Amino acid sequence: MTIENLQAHYGFTRMPFSKNLAPQMLHRHATHAEAVARIGWCLTERALGVITGEVGAGKTVAVRAALGGLDTSRTTVIYQGNPAVGARGLYAGIVLALGGTPRYQKSMLIPQTAELLAAEEHERGRTVVLVLDEAHLLDVDQLEELRLLTNADMDSHSPFAALLVGQPTLRRRIKLGTFAALDQRIALRYAMTGMDPAETKTYLAHHLNLAGRADTLFSDDAAELIHQVSRGLPRAVNNLAIQALVAAFAANKSIVDESSARAAVTEVTTD
Ligand SMILES: Nc1ncnc2c1ncn2[C@@H]1O[C@H](COP(=O)(O)OP(=O)(O)O)[C@@H](O)[C@H]1O
Ligand SMILES: [Mg+2]
Repeated sequence: MTIENLQAHYGFTRMPFSKNLAPQMLHRHATHAEAVARIGWCLTERALGVITGEVGAGKTVAVRAALGGLDTSRTTVIYQGNPAVGARGLYAGIVLALGGTPRYQKSMLIPQTAELLAAEEHERGRTVVLVLDEAHLLDVDQLEELRLLTNADMDSHSPFAALLVGQPTLRRRIKLGTFAALDQRIALRYAMTGMDPAETKTYLAHHLNLAGRADTLFSDDAAELIHQVSRGLPRAVNNLAIQALVAAFAANKSIVDESSARAAVTEVTTD
């Protein structure tokens, strides 16, 4: 079986449930819409925000959608996708992103970062948006750097907005004693949830529609089973839906029924 066979079997114009959807192709379920709106507010206010959610809840998608709504001529986005890569530290990453050469000593790097951030605002009229994705992986030193940076710059007038995006453990980490000061500066906290059963259904239909199938391809009980097992988390829905399409295709069915969904569950939950 090939992808081409599968696409031909269902008459898809492209594979459904793909990762890289353009912003205007996103499914606007409640938690997504709410996250995008709140992130947008946080960025306009130049505040510090924390977005949490389980793996595959749609955090990165929501952040990218919110960033996509920004005026690119007035905003500089610094997106750090993997904290482990920032081995030279948060400051060095910011300095590099703003076109500087990071000073070697930390005592000099902190003012350098603050100066560059201020220059971005006052000389170029641009607001910096710092996004730290997978922020639950930030180590103690990195969180401390962030605390210092927000101390230095967020007291009176803040020249930048910052978003910490990560798994639910992130919230607990920031609450720990050492970061109480950071915790107090958080203006936005939002935990993304799974979709509800009705949303999972429209989510499935939405992705299938983008692939060229506007009619109902998943039976109600198949969609319900996928919802239960995925708990409405988009990435898990994607994986189950693809496996269910494969199972129905292998059984030469034109509709994804409950038994196809069941086969998908077995496929996805056992390795
Ligand atoms: N609003 C949405 N519309 C369509 N697909 C979505 C949406 N949100 C998430 N997805 C799908 O779920 C996948 C996982 O989302 P992602 O943002 O990477 O999760 P997280 O960052 O929380 O781990 C995405 O690759 C995309 O396929
Ligand atoms: Mg992510």
